[in-house]
Amino acid sequence: MSKYFETQAIRNQTERTQFLEHSTPLYLTSSFVFENAEEMRSSFAEEKQRNLYSRFTNPNTTEFVDKIVQMEGAEAGYAFATGMSAIFSSFAALLNAGDHVVSCRSVFGSTHSMFTKFLPKWNIETSYFKVDEVDLLESLIQKNTKILYIETPTNPAVDILDLDLIGRIAKKYNLIFIVDNCFATPYIQQPIKFGADLVIHSATKLIDGQGRVLGGVTVGSKDLIREIYLFARNTGPAMSPFNAWVLSKSLETLAIRVEKHCENALKVAQFLEENNKVTLVKYPFLKSHPQYKVARKQMKLGGNIVAFEIRGGIEAGRNFLNNIKMCTLSANLGDTRTIVTHPSSTTHGRLSEEDRLEVGITNGLVRISVGLENVNDIIEDIEQALNRI
Ligand SMILES: Cc1ncc(COP(=O)(O)O)c(C=O)c1O
Repeated sequence: MSKYFETQAIRNQTERTQFLEHSTPLYLTSSFVFENAEEMRSSFAEEKQRNLYSRFTNPNTTEFVDKIVQMEGAEAGYAFATGMSAIFSSFAALLNAGDHVVSCRSVFGSTHSMFTKFLPKWNIETSYFKVDEVDLLESLIQKNTKILYIETPTNPAVDILDLDLIGRIAKKYNLIFIVDNCFATPYIQQPIKFGADLVIHSATKLIDGQGRVLGGVTVGSKDLIREIYLFARNTGPAMSPFNAWVLSKSLETLAIRVEKHCENALKVAQFLEENNKVTLVKYPFLKSHPQYKVARKQMKLGGNIVAFEIRGGIEAGRNFLNNIKMCTLSANLGDTRTIVTHPSSTTHGRLSEEDRLEVGITNGLVRISVGLENVNDIIEDIEQALNRI
């Protein structure tokens, strides 16, 4: 097999059937058949590697997982119905009652709810460090700490955490280092190279890239994935074969799509930096980004998310959204269509201003998921919306 990302993403596929199809078929089947009792016994005893039931494995989910495993430089993986089921199942499989987690405070909202509302039911507590407090991280580690968790870039403030530095801390204290790599995709960043034990994706975002299906995946070392697989096989959060088929096709074009997303996003970020209604622009590959050097060290490109601060706070942010004509107001990201959101009046509207500021969400912060439309149209829409505030 080729050493190149693009070729692997296209040529790594299920074995051809007797029909000699060119493109992988869709295996919509809940279960698989056995020749006789002995074959069934040995298959269930895992003496034989084969598909038994689609809650465990299916050719389409295996093809999708194999591609992500290869892209991330992992040993094994398992595909889930959503990004959140990948995150929850990975924690649920690896933690015992009384364990402790250390996490960056800037994590996706539902991940934060898992830490604060659900894991405490099993007496699992989480301690947080802010993106600019990595030096405090070691002081949060306790005897019962088992997992160190981060996202980079973070959602929605596009902060960057140093994977190499945090990976070394995880190793020193023998913690399982888990990275949500959703904003970067494996094309831009491979956390395992920097010491991550597990990498999680919401495949719903850039991996699908066209806003069609939900999906999630966890990849990493064989031993950890085995525990996650056994949990998932019994509790049932599996990705559907149909979604796996869609997502595996999406991976064939991931490289070329992400290249274009990032080219457009950099141009949008550069445009915003010059606009006098904008007081701050956060994009990892702008020299003005506070963690620019770290971003250049660990990311191949800057990603497709640009965050910026509009002069005038909450009202200005809301007006900007109301003035938008072509781009879409939607909760998703990583779509071909450019999407704008104003977190402090929408997704994070129920938090206090103080809590929002903790995760870098200022009142006028707007998040743009830059799409694949012609960048002139994207910039024109943003410019006219800013002009009319
Ligand atoms: C960084 C990050 N992680 C996880 C998720 C959850 O993914 P899903 O919506 O597929 O459950 C999201 C969704 O927006 C996300 O942005």
